[in-house]
Amino acid sequence: MELFLQHASPLPSIAILTMHDNTRPFRGNHYNFIDLIQCGKELGAFVYVVVVKDLKLSQRRINSYVYNTSTKTWSQMMLPLPQVIYNRIPTRKDELQPEVQQTIKALMRHSQIRFFNPFFFNKWALFEWLNKAKLTKKYTPATKKLSGPQDLELYLKHFPTIYLKPIRGKAGKGIMKVELSSVKSKPYRLSWQNTRKSHLSAHATLSKLWVQLKELMGSEEYIVQQGIKLASYQSRPFDLRVLVQKNGKGKWSLTGIGARVAGKRSITTHVPRGGSIDEPEKLLSATFGREAAALLLAKVKRAAHTIARRIEKASGHVLGEMSMDLGVDTSGQIWFFEANSRPMKFDEPDIRQKSLERIIQYGKYLSGSPKKKGGG
Ligand SMILES: Nc1ncnc2c1ncn2[C@@H]1O[C@H](COP(=O)(O)OP(=O)(O)O)[C@@H](O)[C@H]1O
Ligand SMILES: [Mg+2]
Repeated sequence: MELFLQHASPLPSIAILTMHDNTRPFRGNHYNFIDLIQCGKELGAFVYVVVVKDLKLSQRRINSYVYNTSTKTWSQMMLPLPQVIYNRIPTRKDELQPEVQQTIKALMRHSQIRFFNPFFFNKWALFEWLNKAKLTKKYTPATKKLSGPQDLELYLKHFPTIYLKPIRGKAGKGIMKVELSSVKSKPYRLSWQNTRKSHLSAHATLSKLWVQLKELMGSEEYIVQQGIKLASYQSRPFDLRVLVQKNGKGKWSLTGIGARVAGKRSITTHVPRGGSIDEPEKLLSATFGREAAALLLAKVKRAAHTIARRIEKASGHVLGEMSMDLGVDTSGQIWFFEANSRPMKFDEPDIRQKSLERIIQYGKYLSGSPKKKGGG
């Protein structure tokens, strides 16, 4: 087997990096990994899985998990260090472990291994990066790190609706919305959602609102953000999920655009919160008409491309992919909500297939080009 692998591997080697687990060999979405391995097989790359614990860079060979697509089984094998590493460390919590931090830093410095997307993004940093560049500033809603009730007061003076979002949040967790209503006795209206349910409360004063907010926020850091009046379809707001990835030439390129329509009474568009998947063309056409919708989509593509390049430059790291949540408001203006450096699976089959191919193509590109100093 060993001999076979040595001789049969002029194929570029791409390892998916994840964490070990107590009850199964490794964490992360195994189906995703299998799809990527299969895609690698079709496009000529040897793809397998390694866990941080086994990734000992001083060794010639490391424990790896290979998948046999015909028997549908995983097996362990000692393999040479991979040429390219695709980072799928599952959570921010994993990433913060000292052992993981050390491995990430060593990979970034490594003289041969190509490693991209080293870290999760921090929601606040993203806004700072985009605000500092003229080309991207126009896409960001007014955003500030939340430090006290005075920030709410300031934002409510300028905007009829504001959003509060955890800096390290995802999937809508911890997101809240504050509005000033015309009800004189209790004008401060707060909407929030936990796992399944949406909640509403009203407060007479800002300090009373703050008491409840503090309780809901706990020790999480938050940003406060201008609320955007999203375009809607059948009275439900929707937004766009854009996937931008590097291609086989190492250049940013747009993989696909999906749309998510908010669930009834939900303040976000996430599918687990009652949101649904739909076609951007259809949703945008319903609001803006066919022609304007086509122009808007072209504009969204250009915006996503510009934003991705800016984020990569400002982050100071080599990135290979990111997903973005972009909103279109009722007047057709495009807004940036967040970018994610560990994109979740897209359920649209065409985007899904292309996303796998892009990872392999970019991996192959990296394996065939020398590493620059300080780069991935
Ligand atoms: N400033 C805002 N105005 C209007 N809607 C927003 C705003 N911020 C977020 N949303 C809605 O909430 C969703 C989730 O926000 P996002 O920043 O992507 O957080 P998460 O990391 O939890 O996905 C967005 O996709 C959008 O539908
Ligand atoms: Mg999001």
